[in-house]
Amino acid sequence: VTASSLIVVSNRLPFVLKRTEDDGLVRKPSAGGLVTAVAPVVVQSGGLWVGWPGLQMKETDSVPESVEGDVSPTAGLKSSQVLSVNLDDVDYELYYNGCCNATFWPLFHSMPDRAIFNEKFWMAYKKVNEDFSEITLKALRKMQTDHPEQVPLVWIHDYHLMLAANTIRQKAEEENLQCKIGFFLHIPFPPWDIMKIFPWEDMILQGILACDLVGFHVEDYCLNFLDSCQRGLGSRVDRKLMLAEHGGRTVRIRPLPIGIPFSRFDQMAHESPNCGLDTNNVKVVLGVDRLDYTKGLVNRLQAFERLLEEFPEHIGKIMLMQVAVPSRTDVKEYIDLKEDMDKLVGQINGKFSTPTWSPIRYIYGCISQQELAGYYRDADVALVTPMRDGMNLVAKEFVACRIRDPGVLILSPFAGAGGMMHEALLVNPYEIGTVAKVLHRALTMPHDEREVRMNALRAREKIYDVNFWMKSFLKSIGTLIEEDGEDV
Ligand code: UDP
Ligand code: G6P
Repeated sequence: VTASSLIVVSNRLPFVLKRTEDDGLVRKPSAGGLVTAVAPVVVQSGGLWVGWPGLQMKETDSVPESVEGDVSPTAGLKSSQVLSVNLDDVDYELYYNGCCNATFWPLFHSMPDRAIFNEKFWMAYKKVNEDFSEITLKALRKMQTDHPEQVPLVWIHDYHLMLAANTIRQKAEEENLQCKIGFFLHIPFPPWDIMKIFPWEDMILQGILACDLVGFHVEDYCLNFLDSCQRGLGSRVDRKLMLAEHGGRTVRIRPLPIGIPFSRFDQMAHESPNCGLDTNNVKVVLGVDRLDYTKGLVNRLQAFERLLEEFPEHIGKIMLMQVAVPSRTDVKEYIDLKEDMDKLVGQINGKFSTPTWSPIRYIYGCISQQELAGYYRDADVALVTPMRDGMNLVAKEFVACRIRDPGVLILSPFAGAGGMMHEALLVNPYEIGTVAKVLHRALTMPHDEREVRMNALRAREKIYDVNFWMKSFLKSIGTLIEEDGEDV
C-alpha cells in the first residue's frame, strides 16, 4: 500500500463546516482525541477521509480549502482528500444523539444505567453505516481505476461505524474490488456482561469481525472483545495470539495504544506566548476535558473543595483552571451535567472567594491546541481524573509541553493512559478524600522528584507518539505506508 491508497472512515471529519452569511462554507476545527490523532496521519500520507461535514451540503457546495494561518492539526488537508457523507437530519439525530451517544457511549464506558435502548436508534444506526459504506465503496472504485496495482487500506474508526466493514467487505467481494479493512476503537470495549445488555450485540460483533485487523488501546479491551466473540457468537478465539475466527477468516486483534504528535506539542509549547495566568503568586491546577460525564468533572470539583477544607494553607494560593468543551449538547445527560457543573462551580467559588481571589476559573468553550500548549506548559499540576476513558490524550499532551518547569500529572487508573504512565500520581477518582490528599502531595512535591517523574513520562511519550501508533497499525495489518522512500 502506498500513501495515496489509505482511506480513513470516521463519523466526524477533522473539521466542521459552517455556513457564512454570504452562503459560503468555512472550516471550524473539531476537538476530540480521534481527530487529534488521525488528522496528522491523513495529512502526511496524502490519503482520503470519508466523514460527516457537520451540516447538510447543497448540490452547489464544495469543501473549502484551509485558510492561510490555520494552525489546527488539519491545516494541510486538501479538499480533494475529503469525501463528505451527506445525512438526512432525522437519521443523524437518531444515529448520533441516539444510538452513538445515548446508547453506545455510556454502555462502552461501563455505565449501562445511563444508556437508552431504542429500536429506532438502532435502525438509523444501520442505515447511516450503510451510507458511509456506499461513499467508501465509491472511493475504492476510483482507486481501483486510478491505481489497479495497489491494494487500498480502508481504516474505519470508532463506535459510530461498527457495522460499516460488513457492507464494505460484501460489496467489494461482489465487485472484485481488492482491499484490506482495519478498525480502531478509540473508546473502551466493555466486558461481556455489559456488552450483552445491548439487544443486537451479535450484529455489532459480526460487524467488527468483518475487518482484517481490529485495534484497541489496551490489552484488557482486546480480551473483553475476544470474550464477547466467544460467548456471544461462539467464535473460536486464541487469547494468546489474539485471533478470532469468523466466516472462514482469521481476524487479528491487537492492543495498539494511541500516542500524540509529541514534537508538534513540544514545538507549540516553545512558541506559545505567556498564557496570562499569574503563576508566580498562585499555583495552577489544570483540567482540560470535553464536558462529558465520563471525565469525572463533578468528583474533581468536589475533591478540589475537599482540598481547600482539609488543607486551608492553600486558600488564596492555588486555583483550579478548568476548560470544559461543549459536547453533544442535545443529549440529556450532557444538558444535566452542564447544569450540575454550573451550580457546583458557583457554590465552591461562593464559599471560598475573597475580594481578590477565587478558587475556580471555569471556561465553557473550546480552546485551540496552540493556546492549550501555553496552559499545559505553565500550570503546576494537571488533574486528569476520568471515571473511565479509552486512552486520554490530554495527559500525554500535558507532559509533551513541560519544556520548562516539570509539573505534576495526577491521573486516573481508569483511563487507558493510566496503565502506562506509571510515573504520574495515580488516584481513584471515586475516592474524593484521597484525590484531595494526592493534590496536596502534588502541590508540595519537591523539584527533584517532579523532574525524575516528568523526564520518564516525556521520554515514553516521545518514543510512542502518534507516528509510532500509525506504523504499528499498518505493520499489524501487513502494510506499511511509504512514499518516495520516506516514512510518514
Ligand atoms: N482539545 C482541544 N481544545 C480544547 C480542549 C481539548 O483542542 O479546548 C483537544 C485536546 O488537545 C485533545 C482532545 O481535544 O487532543 C481531547 O482528547 P482526549 O483523548 O483527552 O478526550 P476525548 O475528547 O477524545 O474524550
Ligand atoms: C471521543 C470519540 C471520538 C469523538 C470525540 C468527540 O474522542 O472517541 O470519536 O469524535 O470524542 O466527540 P464528538 O461527539 O463531538 O465527535
